[in-house]
Amino acid sequence: MADKQAELEVGGETYDFPTIQGSVGPDVIDIRKLYGTTGRFTYDPGYKSTASCESALTYIDGDEGVLLHRGYPIGQLAEQSSFMEVSYLLLNGELPSKDELDEFSHTITYHTMIHDQMRQFYQGFRRDAHPMAIMCGVVGALSAFYHDSTDISDPEQRKIASHRLIAKMPTIAAWAYKYSVGQPFLYPNNSLSYTGNFLRMTFGVPAEDYEVVPAVEKAMDRIFILHADHEQNASTSTVRLAGSSGANPFACISAGIACLWGPAHGGANEAALNMLREIGTPDRIPHYIERAKDKNDPFRLMGFGHRVYKNYDPRATVMQKTVREVFDALNVSDPVFETALRLEEMALQDDYFVEKKLFPNVDFYSGVILSAIGFPTTMFTALFALARTVGWVAQWNEMISDPDQVIGRPRQLYTGPTARDYVPIGQR
Ligand code: CMC
Repeated sequence: MADKQAELEVGGETYDFPTIQGSVGPDVIDIRKLYGTTGRFTYDPGYKSTASCESALTYIDGDEGVLLHRGYPIGQLAEQSSFMEVSYLLLNGELPSKDELDEFSHTITYHTMIHDQMRQFYQGFRRDAHPMAIMCGVVGALSAFYHDSTDISDPEQRKIASHRLIAKMPTIAAWAYKYSVGQPFLYPNNSLSYTGNFLRMTFGVPAEDYEVVPAVEKAMDRIFILHADHEQNASTSTVRLAGSSGANPFACISAGIACLWGPAHGGANEAALNMLREIGTPDRIPHYIERAKDKNDPFRLMGFGHRVYKNYDPRATVMQKTVREVFDALNVSDPVFETALRLEEMALQDDYFVEKKLFPNVDFYSGVILSAIGFPTTMFTALFALARTVGWVAQWNEMISDPDQVIGRPRQLYTGPTARDYVPIGQR
């Protein structure tokens, strides 16, 4: 809906631009014709003030610490829903009926196997390869095996590709882990839930029956929900940008995985736990807080701060609660949790963190839980990728379904040399 105009005065001329209102959140100024009418671009590296697309999937109010998927608060979904249900919601816009959910779960379950020839891909990696390196390669390679779902102009093929990606990610991630520990790959078991199946493929061995611990399955499923989507973050924007050129969905998701790997994004959960272990005991926290504040020291408190949240990340609240549930269920404890709680408390009393509105984000506590369940830190970001795949495919589908979709192609502020004549090498 466009009802207000924004005025821009530049070079003595005034130009009008329409503003567009979403269903909630700040209005946007539609500057699509800015260059055509003024001969100027906007400059916004990092997109701090730029809406790159229209989307009906996820809403974040960073000041208030609100996260909604299709209107439903993340806290309610994490407490009452399941990852399969949230996946359906993100893909289809509404919560499913019981029959719709059963059918969707059945479809996903029956797509969990990966082409058997893909097993050989794993052998090409070193045993100490990071699981994210394997994920980038194997997910991209899906495009070489599933040609019947790469025609992006066909909605049915897009749907099948989406289901395949969501279904196969647990198998791909679990096998990346199995490869690193030198254990045989386990095939999916269709009698288990999405999450139970993933736990079995990761921690089970062929010689024994694997029993899924319900509390761990629930916690893991909740972690997947908390990571399912997060509007236009770096990896989702990467998927959209890759997809805008018409690239196939498997290639686009592989691009998203590559972007997620970075420590400022999905890699922060691994970095956060490593940091907490390095800190070790609460008496060492002040030293690390001072380092995080020191502009000459590159160290940052990992799992702290967020581009959008200037309040407590609502996902971190659920994570913190889930740590206790997993510890109780497994009858374990980890001193690193006490260190995390104390670090949070001390940072939130420190002027630096208060003024800059730096709060714990989703990654601050997730590593503590994943470690208690038995995952090595290198798997943390792979689990994030597994869960975020549903958000990526939902966002990608939304973009491709939009009849006005065009290739993403930012412009730049050029600061290099102006035109000059080539000088032959002997004259330089
Ligand atoms: N520790 C210490 N100082 C920080 C931190 C931190 N974790 N995060 C931000 N700051 C400071 C930063 O130095 C800057 O200070 P100044 O204004 O004096 O230069 C100010 O706060 C603003 O930071 P920024 O880097 O300009 O903010 P950004 O929106 O570009 O970055 C961020 C957001 C998440 C990359 C950043 O907060 C960070 O590096 N955090 C640690 C990594 C992390 O936990 N990432 C996970 C994000 S949540 C999961 C996900 O979405 O992938």
